[in-house]
Amino acid sequence: MTQRVTVADIVAMKRRGERIVMLTAYDYPTARLLDEAGIPVILVGDSLGNTVLGYETTIPVTLAEMLHHTKAVTRAVRRALVVADMPFLTFQVSPEEALRNAGRLVQEGGAQAVKLEGGGPVVETVARLVQAGIPVMGHLGLTPQSVHALGGFRLQARTAPAVRQLFADALALEQAGAFAIVLELVPTPVARAVSQLLHIPTIGIGAGAGCDGQVQVLTDLLHLLPGPLPRHARAYADLATVVSEAVRRYADDVRSGAFPGEAESFGLPRDLDPEILAAIAEEFGSRREGGDNETRADSP
Ligand code: KIV
Repeated sequence: MTQRVTVADIVAMKRRGERIVMLTAYDYPTARLLDEAGIPVILVGDSLGNTVLGYETTIPVTLAEMLHHTKAVTRAVRRALVVADMPFLTFQVSPEEALRNAGRLVQEGGAQAVKLEGGGPVVETVARLVQAGIPVMGHLGLTPQSVHALGGFRLQARTAPAVRQLFADALALEQAGAFAIVLELVPTPVARAVSQLLHIPTIGIGAGAGCDGQVQVLTDLLHLLPGPLPRHARAYADLATVVSEAVRRYADDVRSGAFPGEAESFGLPRDLDPEILAAIAEEFGSRREGGDNETRADSP
């Protein structure tokens, strides 16, 4: 049986100085490919709001949507640690409500851990989930669910008070029992210093090479959505072009009659006589003609 990656394995990777690889996945086929490629941490990010559901931000994403996609991912994954994002307003109201919602992502969704955004105000909630046996990944820096308060998707920790706050939040999350923290859009030296301070790993996105691991949004990595990528992303494939070209070639083949060919079609089974087929076709042809005549005779 394949050994499941655990949160303890992820923390141990930091101790060994092994960089941690994390990627988002939102559906069965990509989750299966990622797991088979040996990606140790798969995040069902609420970025699915932008990347697969077509919302402008992650704010409209619901718990039902997260559950739907988390289930698809966990059906595919045998080895990786699956972390499910807690969407907007599922963890901010109270620790008890957060526990109930996180519990659903683990119990119904099959995730092994949850991720939630923010520092100070969510520390008590993190501790409550951890006490209940739910591993929690924190998320600091640019927290997309607060995009309106932050004034856009921009670099965070740009002033001394903001850097101080980031350090305080990171330490408080670690003390509350978080097993890792995502640092998003943070200057490289700041993220490196926070990573050196903490015992638990930091996973960076737009936070430079000094983090203990890196996460990318899969649709950016594959360049599946047409248009420019965020500055922190690197495309390792151009699937937007691959998909567009494939569907255009398919459409051309259907229109020209080149698809389907012999290879994609099925001949008459051996025990079905071609003469019987011809007889059935003729019988229905003449019934159809009779019917058509009746219709014409009835017409005004
Ligand atoms: O939702 C998401 O995909 C994330 C990553 C950007 C870390 O939170």
